[in-house]
Amino acid sequence: MNEKFESIKNEILNGIEDLQSSKAVYELKKHFLDSKSGKIGLLMKEMKNIAPEERAGFGKGVNDLKEWALQRFAELDEKIKAKELQMRYEQEKIDVTEPAITVKNGNLHPITQMRNEIIDVFAGMGFEVMENKEIENDYYNFTALNTPKDHPARDMQDTFYLSPEFLLATQTSAAQIHTMEAKKPPIKILCPGKVFRSDDDATHSPMFHQMEGLVVDKKITLCDLKGMLDVFVQKIYGEGTTTRLRPSYFPFTEPSVEVDVSCFECGGKGCKLCKGTGWIEILGAGIVNRKVLSNCGIDPDEYSGLAFGIGIERATMLKYGINNIKLLFESDLRVLDQIDNN
Ligand code: DAH
Repeated sequence: MNEKFESIKNEILNGIEDLQSSKAVYELKKHFLDSKSGKIGLLMKEMKNIAPEERAGFGKGVNDLKEWALQRFAELDEKIKAKELQMRYEQEKIDVTEPAITVKNGNLHPITQMRNEIIDVFAGMGFEVMENKEIENDYYNFTALNTPKDHPARDMQDTFYLSPEFLLATQTSAAQIHTMEAKKPPIKILCPGKVFRSDDDATHSPMFHQMEGLVVDKKITLCDLKGMLDVFVQKIYGEGTTTRLRPSYFPFTEPSVEVDVSCFECGGKGCKLCKGTGWIEILGAGIVNRKVLSNCGIDPDEYSGLAFGIGIERATMLKYGINNIKLLFESDLRVLDQIDNN
């Protein structure tokens, strides 16, 4: 019998030599010590084949063997578990001095940022915002704006016609007509929108964004226009900037002006941005032509109006020193990341 006990002991000693994980220890322990199927457990079943006088010795032998085996497995289990814990510590080690991985947040597109900024400025002066149409009828885009068919000023805007009657809006100015048809003075609206022209170079894109402004009330003058635009340029381009008005021509305004902003780069001394002049052209504006008011059923003897049209890409390019309009449409994150006003 002793031989049998010895051989089980050897089997255990050999078996535990190569064990690497607590799971393997558990499996081997079960193989020997499981109360029903374990090798040592099964020895007890042999009791009935043992001569009665040897039974007590046999029982003690099995129990001693069991105790011995339990101890071996417990020692091994403790050793392997300590090793496993150590390995886990190594693997999960955190270097608290390592710089954190920064999370990049998305951003509004520079054109959207500029549009929102302009809206904020004029909303602060009491302007309401309205939607623009992208497909316009020839009447609203041109004729009602005092630009009838064959008027030479139509050449200023290379138009995408969809049919003889419909076209892609070339300017947000049509919003003036829609507003004045729907509403009587006092009017103070701002209308951002997409506009389209067959034009494509470093500073022009076939689709771009404009922001139309219209104020109609009693006794509106160029002074009101200049006052509002001064506030606009100061908020967008910084305190200390101002505007100057130069005579120009648009069929829907009389007088018409081209508005320059004092150079916010050099403060007016003359630099590359303002081409040495101290001034940068930023938008077109004027006093609403009497004909346009009449076209909308507003009496030009009682009311007058001012209007302006801001190119949002141009305003953005000037503010951020971008020299090619395509950079605003290519969505290259290396460029967009540099323009963040949020
Ligand atoms: N619609 C003109 C353009 O696209 C810009 C403009 C000029 C708008 C004068 C106006 C204005 O409201 O008064 O070139």
